[in-house]
Amino acid sequence: VADRVWSVSELIASLREEAARSGRRVIDLGQGTPTDPTPAVVQAAAAAATDWPGYPPAHGSASLRDAYSRWAHRRWGAAVDPAQVLATAGSKEFIATLPWLLGLGPGDVVVVPELAYPTYAAGAELAGCRVVAADSLTALGPQRVALLWLNTPGNPTGRVLPEEHLAKVVSWARERKVLVVSDECYAELTPPGPPAPSILAPRVCRGDFTGILAVHSLSKRSTMAGYRIGFACGDPDVVARLLTRRRDVGLLAAGPSQDAARAALDDDVHVRRAQRDYARRRAVLADAVRTSGMAVADSQAGLFLWASAGRSDRDTVRRLAQVGVLAAPGGFYGAAGRSHVRFSLTASDADLADAADRVAHISWHDR
Ligand SMILES: Cc1ncc(COP(=O)(O)O)c(C=O)c1O
Repeated sequence: VADRVWSVSELIASLREEAARSGRRVIDLGQGTPTDPTPAVVQAAAAAATDWPGYPPAHGSASLRDAYSRWAHRRWGAAVDPAQVLATAGSKEFIATLPWLLGLGPGDVVVVPELAYPTYAAGAELAGCRVVAADSLTALGPQRVALLWLNTPGNPTGRVLPEEHLAKVVSWARERKVLVVSDECYAELTPPGPPAPSILAPRVCRGDFTGILAVHSLSKRSTMAGYRIGFACGDPDVVARLLTRRRDVGLLAAGPSQDAARAALDDDVHVRRAQRDYARRRAVLADAVRTSGMAVADSQAGLFLWASAGRSDRDTVRRLAQVGVLAAPGGFYGAAGRSHVRFSLTASDADLADAADRVAHISWHDR
């Protein structure tokens, strides 16, 4: 684990130096960190929650978990008992510590998507598990699987898994007693309209959360990455076991963040605005990327544009750095991404337009 770079900001540090040498202002589309302001309704709730002398509830406050239940019902018609919800300090810590807190270890297989956010593998490897990258269930054959990760809309591809696919995975996993965890941290960052399908939706899990967990986050949906707040929700036995262990090791969401999160979950207005903002930015960048001769793949939703210049990811990110634009090399997310790059849509409209203009003028034929 120690030998591998697991964070994209660390990975692109040398590219950042190369981009700085270009003499142009560096525009970072490599990292997916939000830059729009945190919604005023959230800031107001946080400002009213600064007096927290005691420890916050490890489970998440009752009012926060109620707000989550209302939200999951509005979004997917899911009937969530607030006892089945767990507040987390952002979703990354939950993802990284899950195999360990479940007591998994050497001999246990954790399945991750072929192109995936690296923390699924980081957490599995920290616990000593064996990581298998596979998108198809048939590719797994008869081997025993302990935990299977899904991610929709996906990082880095922006691919949305349809309800039928989620339902198929759930029934496959239930037959084999495999825990399925669906990371849906970008669920609402879709084109304006309904969210991406969730594993919690009745049409997917039939109103039964046995053997499933959903992971949600407010980092991107509500531009609250600095508040460190997210959720896990699903199988009541798994949630209860994780709650005890997380409390034991002090993994809790901060009190003011819990109050701010309640306000964020109750508000749909800022989410609709974010959907429009990201749809506009996606269209501007996709246009420029295509003009330059790159091909866009997937990229229906989420925070990223996934594209290929038909050459290696390293070559592509270097050429982009020469015009002061940072992108993440696709190979970082899995071998299948070695001829793709990931552009983040989190820059301001002005920066994104500037980056798009520079990208549109790249000729991929001369080096
Ligand atoms: C797919 C995916 N899951 C989880 C996270 C973690 O987000 P956070 O810890 O801010 O909730 C990220 C962050 O980039 C991500 O891309």
